[in-house]
Amino acid sequence: METSFFKENNLSEAAKLIQAGELVAFPTETVYGLGADALNEEAVKKVYAAKGRPSDNPLIVHIARREELESLVAEIPAIAEPLIKKFWPGPLTLIFKAKPGFFSTSVTAGLESVAIRMPDNSLTLKLIQLAERPLVGPSANTSGRPSPTSAEHVYHDLEGKIAGIIDGGATGIGLESTVLDLTSPENPLILRPGAITQQDLKEVLGKDVTYDHHLIGKEEAPKAPGMKYTHYAPEEPVILVKGTDYNLWRKAITHYLEQGETIGILANEEIISKVKSEVEDVFSLGLKANVNEASHSLYAGLRFFEKTKVTLILAEACEINDNTRAYMNRLEKSAGGKYF
Ligand code: TXA
Ligand code: MG
Repeated sequence: METSFFKENNLSEAAKLIQAGELVAFPTETVYGLGADALNEEAVKKVYAAKGRPSDNPLIVHIARREELESLVAEIPAIAEPLIKKFWPGPLTLIFKAKPGFFSTSVTAGLESVAIRMPDNSLTLKLIQLAERPLVGPSANTSGRPSPTSAEHVYHDLEGKIAGIIDGGATGIGLESTVLDLTSPENPLILRPGAITQQDLKEVLGKDVTYDHHLIGKEEAPKAPGMKYTHYAPEEPVILVKGTDYNLWRKAITHYLEQGETIGILANEEIISKVKSEVEDVFSLGLKANVNEASHSLYAGLRFFEKTKVTLILAEACEINDNTRAYMNRLEKSAGGKYF
């Protein structure tokens, strides 16, 4: 299959492919998604095949207008309204009780709930409206690899396996949406950290919102606990170095050079400027202590080293707090939790 590129001027062609049950990747404010008609089970099955995704990992349904929500879920709890008003379109996925039998088990992985999100990207909102149906949209990467933040990343992983890619340039946020479970409305649970933080949710809801780490792990690596830490992993192993202490970086570099590794550094400008001459290649995550810049560039950085001679990536880790949690969650998974 030839994979075509689409832009603003030929979105209707992309919408026709969706209506015909084909796969078209789309840009969002977080990462690129792999779009298919959420109401066409054959099309949804193709998504799992193209990504090599385990079939017990449910998909997010993407919509373009608030009014579509009523018909897609069993009930909309009152707590959802202020969240939708504040954060949609935007990087917040909400999990609702599913209408029995409405979405195929390929969408929900057989759960009694369904995840819905309205992405903040004008091309994709238009695509959904032109296609006149909700779209499933897992990240448009091969399962296990870093999520795609550009059309080139999607092409690299899925060329020949999907009908098209809508090129909307590099994504802004760079990490997947926050996933919030509202199926027990009195106890909303964050299943996946993202750009919308625990504090952001608390401010809107006027009450505490908790994290469910265990559930995240269970969903992302069902029945294969050993695999759950290889999410977002590039071809080369990643080792984390915590902080900006030059002596620690120096020690790590010396250690892995002695082991015969060819080292790449993924870190902020300050660290890079100091260690650049000692390693094979570097990729900048931006200015020091700017987690938004680092999040924006993380996946592109992990993928960058695949085109180099590097055999091992040393990546900058930081303290985990409400603002850095999403970044550190993805970074630790890409490294399998390994610190120097
Ligand atoms: O930012 C994003 O959310 C991107 C863009 C493309 O929209 N999409 C994305 O999809 O990250 P995916 O499939 O890579 O991740 C979906 C996550 C998975 O961790 C999945 O287990 C969880 O959402 N999920 C989906 N439906 C669920 C449900 N009913 N209950 C619990 N978790 C669910
Ligand atoms: Mg994904």
